[in-house]
Amino acid sequence: MAYKPNDHYARKARTEKFAARSVYKLQEIDNKHHLFRKGDTVLDLGASPGSWSQYASAAVGPKGRILGVDLKRVEVSMANATFLRSDINKLEMDEVLEEHGFTKPFDLVISDMAPDTTSHRFTDQMRSLDLCETAFSVAYKFLRGGGHFVCKIFESGEVQNFRKDLLEYFSNVYTVRPKSVRSESKEVFIVAKYFKGRNKNETDKDESTPQE
Ligand SMILES: C[S@@+](CC[C@H](N)C(=O)[O-])C[C@H]1O[C@@H](n2cnc3c(N)ncnc32)[C@H](O)[C@@H]1O
Repeated sequence: MAYKPNDHYARKARTEKFAARSVYKLQEIDNKHHLFRKGDTVLDLGASPGSWSQYASAAVGPKGRILGVDLKRVEVSMANATFLRSDINKLEMDEVLEEHGFTKPFDLVISDMAPDTTSHRFTDQMRSLDLCETAFSVAYKFLRGGGHFVCKIFESGEVQNFRKDLLEYFSNVYTVRPKSVRSESKEVFIVAKYFKGRNKNETDKDESTPQE
């Protein structure tokens, strides 16, 4: 049987009608790093059961849009959100974006993707890193200049290298461990802000990096 947490955050999520307690991780990251703006388009990788998309949907408002992708079905629906059930590695993103009318690059790419865990910590860490690298490769192609990228990663010796790689492509990179992450969990979140663009000309002129 799947483990169903029943801690403070799980109960709060049920009361507030969020699909999962994970929402409070994104909320805390957003409170600190101010990621969302009204009207933004957001790509949510690993979207099921749907709490990050619920949060993003409210944060971007009716003029914004969310595209959520997951191997599993997403359990919620919102007027400004589209969900696809797929392995991100197998998705033909260009076709999907055209089919669903996503005409501009995304303002934000967020990934809470996690592998099914095994009894081998190193295997889990490497699979988590793989998912982050996949998420970044999608962000690299579909994020606008000045946009932001968030991904969950299982802590390992490789996290510092991944962070270092991201610093080539983003102006600011942070590691965040929200209070709502369970104490026994090894997950942290990388928050990478102000994508430099695939080349300098692609970075929106009005998106110069504010001092933080
Ligand atoms: C922790 S859950 C995400 C929770 C979600 N952010 C929420 O707030 O409801 C991690 C998700 O990553 C998904 N995932 C793992 N590998 C994936 C892949 N290759 N492609 C798409 N989704 C994947 C899993 O199916 C799982 O639903």
